Amino acid sequence: MRAQLIRVATEAEAAREASRLIAAHINAKRDALVTLAAGFTPLAAYQELVAMQSRGEVDLTSVRYVGLDEWVGLGENDEGSCIFTMNGAFYQPAGIPKENIRVFDGTAKDICAEAQAINAYVEAIGGLSLAVLGIGMNGHVGFNEPGNPLEGQFSLTPLSAVTQAAGRKYFFGNAAPKTGATLTLNALMAAKHSILIATGAHKREITKAVLAGESSLPAAAFLNHPGAVYIFDAACCP
Ligand code: PGA
Repeated sequence: MRAQLIRVATEAEAAREASRLIAAHINAKRDALVTLAAGFTPLAAYQELVAMQSRGEVDLTSVRYVGLDEWVGLGENDEGSCIFTMNGAFYQPAGIPKENIRVFDGTAKDICAEAQAINAYVEAIGGLSLAVLGIGMNGHVGFNEPGNPLEGQFSLTPLSAVTQAAGRKYFFGNAAPKTGATLTLNALMAAKHSILIATGAHKREITKAVLAGESSLPAAAFLNHPGAVYIFDAACCP
């Protein structure tokens, strides 16, 4: 295994570790293209980053951000959408200028053209520099579902039953969309640095499978990536 493994006691420590690594990357690379997962797992790390910025320890506005994924059909005014979550949890509190943020609009009339536009954006910049990822209940990262490899930098994808079921938590228990849009595993693997985070007892089984290197799991693909760091708390990785 070439990736680094960090195991900490609590979710709060996982957030501090993640924020420290993200800030170090941003401080070192002013022209970075960064993608930040919008699931619940990394939200505490984003809060830490905003606090670090207020102490003058990092300038989060110095880099560009591209949305990791989105539910097709939802846009920035829809609670539960990835951009709604990220606006509230990070982009707005961190004061990121709009021109530094590029996200897939799930409400676009032509979602294929919208996906191609994000694809072209990532290609034109020369790829990602940092990817911050949560590990899903089925081992997905972004919306890269096990057993469904995607092409290019950014792609539309059908969502698995597990992802749809897990996604209900973002929508007050209501059904989640059946289609997603995501930076592909190839695009994420091409990032120089990646941080994969899992916390909580409900992620224990999948964490075990990821660490066993189950080849169908997108989250396991980073085990041999020299720039990858996995962060686990004791609840998911006893
Ligand atoms: P979560 O989502 O951080 O809300 O658990 C992770 C994921 O499904 O990608």
